[in-house]
Amino acid sequence: MNQCSASPKTYYLWTIGCQMNEADSRRLADGLTALGYRAAPRAEQADLVVLNTCVVRRSAEDKVVGRLSSLKGLKRRRPEMLLAVMGCFVGDVSRLRQKYPYVDIFAAPSDVDAILALARRRAASNEHPAPSTQQPVAAYVPVSTGCDHRCTYCIVRLRRGPQRSRPIDEIVAEVRELVGRGAREVTLLGQNVDAYGTDLPDRPDLADVLYAVHRVEGLWRIRFLTSHPADMTGRLIETVAALPKVCEHIELPVQSGDDDVLRRMARRYTVAEYRDLVARIRAALPGTGLATDVIVGFCGESEAQFQNTYRLLEELRFDMVHVAAYSPRPGTPAARWPDDVPPAEKERRRQAVDDLQKRIAGEINARFLGQTVEVLVEDLHRGKWRGRTRTNKLVFFTDDADWRGKLALVEITWSGPWSMLGRVRGAVDPPSP
Ligand code: SAM
Ligand code: F3S
Repeated sequence: MNQCSASPKTYYLWTIGCQMNEADSRRLADGLTALGYRAAPRAEQADLVVLNTCVVRRSAEDKVVGRLSSLKGLKRRRPEMLLAVMGCFVGDVSRLRQKYPYVDIFAAPSDVDAILALARRRAASNEHPAPSTQQPVAAYVPVSTGCDHRCTYCIVRLRRGPQRSRPIDEIVAEVRELVGRGAREVTLLGQNVDAYGTDLPDRPDLADVLYAVHRVEGLWRIRFLTSHPADMTGRLIETVAALPKVCEHIELPVQSGDDDVLRRMARRYTVAEYRDLVARIRAALPGTGLATDVIVGFCGESEAQFQNTYRLLEELRFDMVHVAAYSPRPGTPAARWPDDVPPAEKERRRQAVDDLQKRIAGEINARFLGQTVEVLVEDLHRGKWRGRTRTNKLVFFTDDADWRGKLALVEITWSGPWSMLGRVRGAVDPPSP
């Protein structure tokens, strides 16, 4: 019945996980809008429900399973509703089909086209494009998918497969299009963004991508994430320093501050090499915003090994630390090893890192008090303008003018570990060209 209706079709899109999933969801939303679909506020009101999933940790997978079970009744009541699942939850499709027979389609991670093809068949009677959604000021652009590393704890490379890099001209075309629709900043995405190009015939590298994207007129800022410490080259660091649009912001997961744990994680660097890399980055890019990822409670991690991580974080003083308690993931090498750090102890270590980082980030950000920083304003959030500095600090301010998509000079009047508040002092001329 619904298929023949002349009213616009609607979609509901639920996304969890990494920036890659966010980028895929945006591409899907754009594609659905072009097909005439409109966003619905709730799954109950949608003709197409899409879950874009993550299974990097057990807790994420549990959320997906919960969401899928709660949609079972809805699908029974409204069998004409299409239910699609994409993202890293989609591994063994025949097993998933048996377990969740009410799902219409399981699409591999990033396979937006499979869902659009299904939506297109349903939308055939409804060819009027919906009004386009507001385009983001800061947009994600995947430059590679998959990963060629073999970190023993990680399920993502199993679900996303080997690294596949997009050709540079395709990346530049997408950036141009986004800028044409109002984007001023792009973040180039890859599981190991700094390994970009090793799978392409003429082996371009991320520095080549940065040079090419830098030439896009109307684009003001470029970021990239996530970098693998073993793949970061001197040329890449020099390129970040040389290109004014590339922001001083590096995401460089360390995972552990202990060599034995790093070896068992198969991270392919030592603590000394990591420390040296950070020193080289900081020397070339003074004041750079440096973020890292840490896993606590990995198989066999002793208290002394955890302390090595804690001390490294104290020493290197990152701007941001994403910390997670280790959770065994099916199919990974580490899942066969004893998960021998008790849950309460993992949580204690996670909390200790959180507390330490709260103090460090608070101290780092307090140094901005009274300083004036350049903020690219992304949106209005609960009555305050929200944007980020080049080093990825979140800044809020209140002002009556429309600042969306503009560069503001903001004097910092309050700082906390996760964000800062300020008053606007004026506008900055956009970089030319
Ligand atoms: N490519 C990046 C790198 O070089 O580490 C990160 C990719 S991973 C998908 C994102 C983050 O999730 C990791 O940095 C890690 O801290 C965390 N993570 C991955 N597997 C995990 C697991 N089994 N348990 C807990 N955290 C995990
Ligand atoms: Fe996973 Fe390690 Fe790659 S964390 S995505 S296998 S770099």
